[in-house]
Amino acid sequence: MSVTTLEARNLVKDFHLRSGFKTSILHAVKDVSFTIEAGKTVALVGESGSGKSTIARMLMKLETPTSGQILLDGQESGMSGRAVEAYRSQVQMVFQDPFASLNPFHTIFHHLERPIRLHHPKLSTAQVRERALELLERVRLTPAESFAERRPHELSGGQRQRVAIARALAPGARFIVADEPVSMLDVSIRLGVLNLLADLQREDDLGVLYITHDLATARHFSDEIMVLYKGDVVERGPADDVILNPQHEYTRTLLGAAPEPENLGRLRDEVRAELAGL
Ligand SMILES: Nc1ncnc2c1ncn2[C@@H]1O[C@H](COP(=O)(O)OP(=O)(O)O)[C@@H](O)[C@H]1O
Ligand SMILES: [Mg+2]
Repeated sequence: MSVTTLEARNLVKDFHLRSGFKTSILHAVKDVSFTIEAGKTVALVGESGSGKSTIARMLMKLETPTSGQILLDGQESGMSGRAVEAYRSQVQMVFQDPFASLNPFHTIFHHLERPIRLHHPKLSTAQVRERALELLERVRLTPAESFAERRPHELSGGQRQRVAIARALAPGARFIVADEPVSMLDVSIRLGVLNLLADLQREDDLGVLYITHDLATARHFSDEIMVLYKGDVVERGPADDVILNPQHEYTRTLLGAAPEPENLGRLRDEVRAELAGL
């Protein structure tokens, strides 16, 4: 039976900062709640420092919330090693930096083998291999046998990010937290990677938290947009509503920093046209 909702309930994260004898508290995430359903993409949009990665890290249990809960199908799972492992078989992350997120000493096969074995300990060596090759094919790194034996430095940034996506799928995860997954890639290959993520999501009915500061792709790829400002969600709603009819001053500022609002419709058509040509 697979889980169908990932919920953040009243998430708060304070960091205690020390400089010399002074300490201060930084309220990085203030009181954030949302639910991601299977098959849906929720975009989390905000400028640098607004708390996006802190939310992502809490969702991955890489960071303990100061308060609040993270629930899968309404169940909280705790922070013990075993609980975290079980949780991560359902919720996986794609990090921003495709160069830092893979181990330079290991082959691509090794990166996939580990999560497959961890979460499917009963598979034979041949079955693990078969599953790893299947994953490489799904992220369109073919011929899969050839990519399996390469090391990260032999791959481009876009190819590495495809490996990161394959690795996220390896344990059979139902939810993907993608923290600015294409912001470090060449502009020309960004849409290809996002489109792949969207295809996999449809095929597997995955829930996705898409973290970005790019409003055009947030609108194109998401069902819902949440706008984060200094640790608070200041606006949320169906993607088109938030972009076309922003209610909050900060959303308007973000839209102002992006191409003109009236151009976002056009931009999205360009996204579509570009995707059609891929
Ligand atoms: N481990 C940490 N210790 C102290 N401050 C942190 C830590 N991680 C993040 N912060 C601070 O929390 C705020 C939010 O950071 P972050 O979640 O990385 O934002 P974003 O991903 O939106 O750029 C920033 O002011 C950042 O400096
Ligand atoms: Mg970040």
